[in-house]
Amino acid sequence: MIGKKIMQFDSVTSTNDFIKQNKQNLNHGTVVSSSMQSKGRGRKGQVWISEKGNLYFSFLLSENIAYKDIARILFQTSLALVKVLEQFDIKASIKYPNDIIVKGKKIAGILIETSGVSALDCVTVGVGLNVLQKSIPHLEGKAISMTELTTNPLRLDDVLHRFIEIYNELEDETLSYIHGCYMKYSMVIGKYIEVSGKEGRILDVTRSGHLVVEIDGEEHIYEDKELSLEELYEGNQK
Ligand code: BTN
Repeated sequence: MIGKKIMQFDSVTSTNDFIKQNKQNLNHGTVVSSSMQSKGRGRKGQVWISEKGNLYFSFLLSENIAYKDIARILFQTSLALVKVLEQFDIKASIKYPNDIIVKGKKIAGILIETSGVSALDCVTVGVGLNVLQKSIPHLEGKAISMTELTTNPLRLDDVLHRFIEIYNELEDETLSYIHGCYMKYSMVIGKYIEVSGKEGRILDVTRSGHLVVEIDGEEHIYEDKELSLEELYEGNQK
């Protein structure tokens, strides 16, 4: 269960970093949220510009955690975000591994970080969700926020509480159920990508979080780190 304790800050460097630096003093499930971040981070070393108006939060998972659970955490977090958006009549899809997309633009991103020397001791899950920011100048055309998509009233704390509630509900479900739902919202199946100069067609996302890609009639399994999914396309490029 997450969110039994919620820590709210006006500004931190990064909610992921706050959790990682203070994990000894934080309980499993603690949620840390901040109105702004001065050093917000995205995946692959990218900067996550974090001005006032959007949701920036992270939570700590430190009980009964194993590497095999990371895929489930990713599926569960992505799914909870999609379901929160649905509550505001916003139809979103999931771009593997962890971008939430509406109308071809990114509305949310997830940054999962692990720590532990010989074994995994904790996982920090960070979420950035565009809620109130109307225009995101540095991402013109690539990002979208909830306020552009709904006339429903939007309050950051309400959106965060809805996320926590849905994430906790999903906790009781089996991996098979969670994976099945994730796949229903996945937008990558059947799309083409370039892998080492060749065209590959995405066939599946496995329950362990790997991507199955068909290249020259053969199936290959990849981790997302090995692939760039920036340019997905519909095929018929030949
Ligand atoms: C991505 O799509 O690249 C992941 C973005 C994750 C951003 C969130 S905002 C809250 C948390 N703190 C960070 O520094 N990053 C994550």
